[in-house]
Amino acid sequence: MIPVVAVHGGAGSRRGWRNYDRVRKELEAALDEGVRAIRTGSAVDAVEAAVRYMEDSGIFNAGVGSVLDLKGGLSMDAGIMDGRSRRAGAVAAVEYPRNPVVLARIVMEKTGHIILAGRGADELAKKLSLPRHPGPSERAIKRWKELLEKVREGGNTYYALRYKEAKELGLLDTVGAVAVDADGGTAAAVSTGGVIMKFPGRVGDSPIPGAGFYADRWGAAAATGYGEVIIMSMACLRAVEKLASGSSPSEAAWLTVSSITALFGSGNVGIIVADKYGRVAAARNTEVMPWGYMRPGHRPTIYI
Ligand code: GLY
Repeated sequence: MIPVVAVHGGAGSRRGWRNYDRVRKELEAALDEGVRAIRTGSAVDAVEAAVRYMEDSGIFNAGVGSVLDLKGGLSMDAGIMDGRSRRAGAVAAVEYPRNPVVLARIVMEKTGHIILAGRGADELAKKLSLPRHPGPSERAIKRWKELLEKVREGGNTYYALRYKEAKELGLLDTVGAVAVDADGGTAAAVSTGGVIMKFPGRVGDSPIPGAGFYADRWGAAAATGYGEVIIMSMACLRAVEKLASGSSPSEAAWLTVSSITALFGSGNVGIIVADKYGRVAAARNTEVMPWGYMRPGHRPTIYI
């Protein structure tokens, strides 16, 4: 069994991604981190390492690069799942940790719970002396100020802004990873700052097992896009169940995205899928979703 790690940098519109060279470089570096971890560790180590790298990068909507909510606050979600044990851990609406995926793994392995939200999760991160988030990036503050003007011009129509303009601006860039290790163990992880200008307190798909991420003995999936649509369609559970019924990762990814498009329209979801044999695939109904995969001893393959 040759291990594999796959990552995505988020689904959205072309307008949201201007610097494709930088995105490619950062995805390659995230894959390097994941593959380094899987050489000596597990699929869970790999997805945590890859997502942690993307949280630190600052160019994705996760961790250091997270977008802001309607009040200019940070509110990040993340989740991780070990397909071997079928245990999951997640954090919702946190602002303290620099790397919400690290806290999600601690929830999975140390607390006996699955989802920890808000103040309690932040307090745990603080108590464990996890690195603290440096605060909103200049880019996030600039975008927030621009969008706040639009909200005001629109007479407090922020609901419409979230769904229509966030889509046009391509600000849906959650990050995610899936991996299969040498023993056939699978894992998935995701992290996000959520939908830009969201209502404070809103929680998306990223901390919901089965929605934003899922892994079991058949394979693993990580989603990106509108959390509300991904929750209502249980996108990642849907994809992994298709693997269990004999679909290839490519069929599972495309059947999942097609059924979501039929139910909710297009421009709202992307997904990466790995099966227990280490085959990987991706599908989206958005304009773009940079993603890629890598195996130990091989160069990364990136699709922009
Ligand atoms: N997929 C990220 C979110 O909707 O929060």
